[in-house]
Amino acid sequence: MKEIKVAPSILSADFSNLCHELRLCEKGGADIIHLDVMDGHFVPNITFGPVVIKSIRKCTKIPFDAHLMIERPDKYVKDFVKAGADIITVHREVKVDIGDVLRKARNYGVEVGLAINPDTPFEKAKEFMEELDYLLIMSVYPGFAGQSFIREVLSKIEEARKYVDSEGLDVKIAVDGGIKHSNYRDVVKAGADIIVAASAIFGGDVVKNIREFKRGK
Ligand code: DX5
Ligand code: ZN
Repeated sequence: MKEIKVAPSILSADFSNLCHELRLCEKGGADIIHLDVMDGHFVPNITFGPVVIKSIRKCTKIPFDAHLMIERPDKYVKDFVKAGADIITVHREVKVDIGDVLRKARNYGVEVGLAINPDTPFEKAKEFMEELDYLLIMSVYPGFAGQSFIREVLSKIEEARKYVDSEGLDVKIAVDGGIKHSNYRDVVKAGADIIVAASAIFGGDVVKNIREFKRGK
């Protein structure tokens, strides 16, 4: 099995002890910290914003990916970069000029990702693929941790993998939502480079869970 990168989502972490949780992620060998930013409009939940990201930035050097589940990423990209995000991921489904947001983020010196919901076909991401560092394929409807993996998404991961390889693109494919030790192999086999997991990592022994994912277990 190829080497897979692991991105713990702090959504299921203990928010009263985030620095400690991030140090456990470091110990486990996490590659990216996934930050689920929700605005209560694009998704039916509210989480945290730049203020929290700025304060946890000092806890670790692991790159931060701000997964922006917000209606107006165009308004806030700069704030998230200033707070310490290394990757800005925006949703394809928002009604703003996506190309413009991606360019804006890149001009601030960060990497960029595009997220697609389970019912958004890969086709809709194609026009942006040349500009991306990451494609984030959602395997649950965004909003909450702990939901069940939607298996129909596996064929979309395969489709994206084939496209990236055949076009020779340098886009990493990340998959987010419902990933457990039980379905992880299917996700990797379908073509993921990076897996994102909240409950499967923070719901138990964080260090052990990350290590097992990294070992392909
Ligand atoms: C869902 C978030 C995911 C979520 C994953 O809206 O984007 O990153 O935290 O949680 P699990 O791994 O528990 O499905
Ligand atoms: Zn996420």
